[in-house]
Amino acid sequence: MGSGVGLETSRRFLATWLIGGLVAGLSVVALTAVWPELSPLNIVGKRKKKRPIRVYMDGCFDMMHYGHCNALRQARALGDQLIVGVVSDDEITINKGPPVTPLHERMLMVSALKWVDEVIPDAPYAITEEFMRKLFDEYNIDYIIHGDDPCILPDGTDAYALAKKAGRYKQIKRTEGVSSTDIVGRMLLCVRERTSSENPSHASLQRQFSHGHNQKYDDGGSGSRTRVSHFLPTSRRIVQFSNEKVAGPNARIVYIDGAFDLFHAGHVEILRLARGLGDFLLVGIHTDQTVSANRGAHRPIMNLHERSLSVLACQYVDEVIIGAPWEISKDMITTFNISLVVHGTVAEDGDYEKDNRDPYAVPKSMDIVKVLESPLDITTSTIIKRIVSNHEAYQKRNERKGESERKYYEGKSYISGD
Ligand SMILES: *[C@@H]1O[C@H](CO)[C@@H](O)[C@H](O)[C@H]1NC(C)=O
Repeated sequence: MGSGVGLETSRRFLATWLIGGLVAGLSVVALTAVWPELSPLNIVGKRKKKRPIRVYMDGCFDMMHYGHCNALRQARALGDQLIVGVVSDDEITINKGPPVTPLHERMLMVSALKWVDEVIPDAPYAITEEFMRKLFDEYNIDYIIHGDDPCILPDGTDAYALAKKAGRYKQIKRTEGVSSTDIVGRMLLCVRERTSSENPSHASLQRQFSHGHNQKYDDGGSGSRTRVSHFLPTSRRIVQFSNEKVAGPNARIVYIDGAFDLFHAGHVEILRLARGLGDFLLVGIHTDQTVSANRGAHRPIMNLHERSLSVLACQYVDEVIIGAPWEISKDMITTFNISLVVHGTVAEDGDYEKDNRDPYAVPKSMDIVKVLESPLDITTSTIIKRIVSNHEAYQKRNERKGESERKYYEGKSYISGD
């Protein structure tokens, strides 16, 4: 008997439990349909989403170019926040020779990128176990990101082995056909053209550098228009670098123009100040022809598309004109509703005094020109001078780097658009 009652009770209990469960289950399904946020699955998902995924990437960022910018853009896409480690001057000197750009300038440039959330100065050249722990525990990093080019330590081990073992490593594809080595080559070419007769060491360095890399150098004839870049600009890349934001109805639009060749910390600082004077910063980038006409046939070092990408990567920039006119016309001011035209005090020698045309005559007559004291005394020529004065160290560096880059490109295969 006792067992019969017990059986009855347990049967009833089971039935109630089953029906209850079914009702509860159905109500979750129904509720979810009406009110998706209430689904327990989503609540769990939301809680996870609350803590942003933090990704880390490091680098020297010496002579930063749009290839670096693109790598950081790709890294940022693998998480919600990008934290960038910038290697110290000392570690660069030990590993690659003295840097062209001191740490504080490299920090300025990396921090100004639109995809960078935080910057860590004096990051180690190679990630140690201790530093990796620090990244995970103190900086709350979820993943360490690196390009698909191998990073081998002097002892022959993989620099990211530890992160890989911990399952906290993600890789991006190196896509840009440009490298610091290319850019140094272009600068040396420009220096050779001007000084090879009185300074044979540059000429020999140039020959040495270019050997086997680009036959065009040895053609000799084509001269200043020779470019080493493998970079093929696509509309997709420009879109990826662009802002979706458009100027609001009452936005105060500030315009600044220039060559922005070898984009550097001086450019970043003047753009930051210019942006601070309005709500929307429009940057006019002069054509290669305009730059050559004003600075000489050996300039610009970077072509119009390359210069445009570097400027677009800067967080203070809202839009660029790819190939802006030298003179600012009334029509341009009206078309873009420009409220203020600014330019810095630090410019290439004679940039604005070459001929009698004052490019700012129209905006000046409208009283909408403001001259900004350039915060940093750096020009493209400063950068070129730094590199040339360091050329012995660079010669050694280029020999080594050129070889490893050649190997990388030889092994390179199809890469998707990202
Ligand atoms: C043009 O810019 C001014 C600010 O300088 C702003 O008040 C005005 O609304 C803008 N015009 C248009 C059509 O957006």
